[in-house]
Amino acid sequence: MDFRSIVAQGSALANATTDSLLLVLTPEQALTQDPALDSLIKDAQSGHDFELKAGRTLYVHRPQGVKAARVVLAVAADDSSKSFKSAVSKGLGQLKDLGTAQVVVAAGAGCKLTADHARALVQAASDLTYVYRQTKPSAPNASKLSKVALASSADEAAVVKAGLLEGQGVAAGVALARECANLPGNHCTPTFLAQEAKRLAKEFKNIQTEVLERAAIAKLGMGSFLSVTAGTVQPPKFIILRYNGAAKTQAPLVLVGKGITFDSGGISLKPGAGMDEMKYDMGGAASVLGTFRAIAELKPKVNLIGLIPSCENMPSGTATKPGDVVTSMSGQTIEILNTDAEGRLILCDALTYAERFKPAAVVDIATLTGACVIALGNQHSGLFSKDDALAEALLNAGKQAGDTAWRMPIDDEYGEALKSNFADLANVGGREGGAITAAVFLSKFTKAYRWAHLDIAGTAWKSGAAKNGTGRPVSLLTQFVLNQATAAKDALAPLPAAADKAPARKTPARRRAVA
Ligand code: BES
Ligand code: MN
Ligand code: ZN
Repeated sequence: MDFRSIVAQGSALANATTDSLLLVLTPEQALTQDPALDSLIKDAQSGHDFELKAGRTLYVHRPQGVKAARVVLAVAADDSSKSFKSAVSKGLGQLKDLGTAQVVVAAGAGCKLTADHARALVQAASDLTYVYRQTKPSAPNASKLSKVALASSADEAAVVKAGLLEGQGVAAGVALARECANLPGNHCTPTFLAQEAKRLAKEFKNIQTEVLERAAIAKLGMGSFLSVTAGTVQPPKFIILRYNGAAKTQAPLVLVGKGITFDSGGISLKPGAGMDEMKYDMGGAASVLGTFRAIAELKPKVNLIGLIPSCENMPSGTATKPGDVVTSMSGQTIEILNTDAEGRLILCDALTYAERFKPAAVVDIATLTGACVIALGNQHSGLFSKDDALAEALLNAGKQAGDTAWRMPIDDEYGEALKSNFADLANVGGREGGAITAAVFLSKFTKAYRWAHLDIAGTAWKSGAAKNGTGRPVSLLTQFVLNQATAAKDALAPLPAAADKAPARKTPARRRAVA
């Protein structure tokens, strides 16, 4: 799709030669300062066809004094990029069935357009046109939209232009994440994810990919990760991505994505209803790949590492059993009371592996718990961190990108539930606070660096008739990484000196290879 910014105010808007004009208005700032358009809006209001109430839209065919064949009015709750995006989505939705190919989008006079608005527009348009075709080539186009222009004032033009470009990088990453997530489990295997990571490195010279096979994973001592893959014939993969945009001496950000390509629950088998959706259990991995896709294009001055432990979780005669005790790479032993709490078992070893990069910060992303879906529903991802500055930076990036997270508690006391008589840790607590106990479990492996955990179980995909990957939280993560590079106000507070964050692990001596 082609995105551009145009400087157009007043009669320039009414003279825009395009299929359609989409006007985003807010209840406060209704008018456009274009005589033809303003009289159209007033007329619609007085005829009670239209109200300046958030969520309302009005389609007008061949209005007088306007060159575009159609005008759609869409009302946004306020001037924020979030409200702008939902009004644009609604407005573009109105034009979907009309075969509109080109549209000029304009905001009401008085709305100050920012890069966030421009990115929101790109994301709304890309979401509208995305169609999954990999295993359904016959799927029809969702929309004919191919050219979108955002009208701005002369002094907004530069940020709008930059925002449109950034938005396209992010949208490509979101689309990649959606595509990977939507692929069925028999297509999207750990081997496929590894190939996809290698393909990224081939397409973008600024990305390097390395894939560790079972033998190398065992040699590292990742006994917890390997216990999850014991029941399947699909080989596990540990995928490492690197993007170097800054000096080698600069500590990298590390993203760790849960890559369970199908989660049957293992011996603690899940119920049948809706089990197909567990193909989405690699949503964290998909978001890491998508973020790398976006960063490769946008080239910020940061260093970034991506880690993806990937395997299937299946039952069989060789599968891990409830009560089995395994030794993680950290040396801590884990009693696996429920084989369906497998995400934390693969992540904990990846989090230990992350130590070697001496990271500035580590963020893991995982479709980790059904409990998080119960707590937060599908609007916000769950954010867990003891590091206020890191949490703040992630929350802000989410707000900026329209891909929000909500902070959850992570007090050590919740860890009481993870006590075991037979190992250092049990892999499950009770049902209560399940998203929190999962986060506390992970925290036991993250003592060497600044860390945050995103539980995306409720946000990575949509269920029901609209079943589809969302590509979340690629936008949040990309924005977070970009903010670190530009030292924006949303960047992380300066790091404590390295000495302040020495590994606090007590048991490195027990680290050893597993067969
Ligand atoms: N992948 C699931 C979490 C999940 C479930 C995400 C439903 C989205 C929708 C995870 O591996 C899991 O099975 N978690 C268990 C943990 C429990 C056994 C402590 C859960 O949430 O039920
Ligand atoms: Mn599970
Ligand atoms: Zn899972």
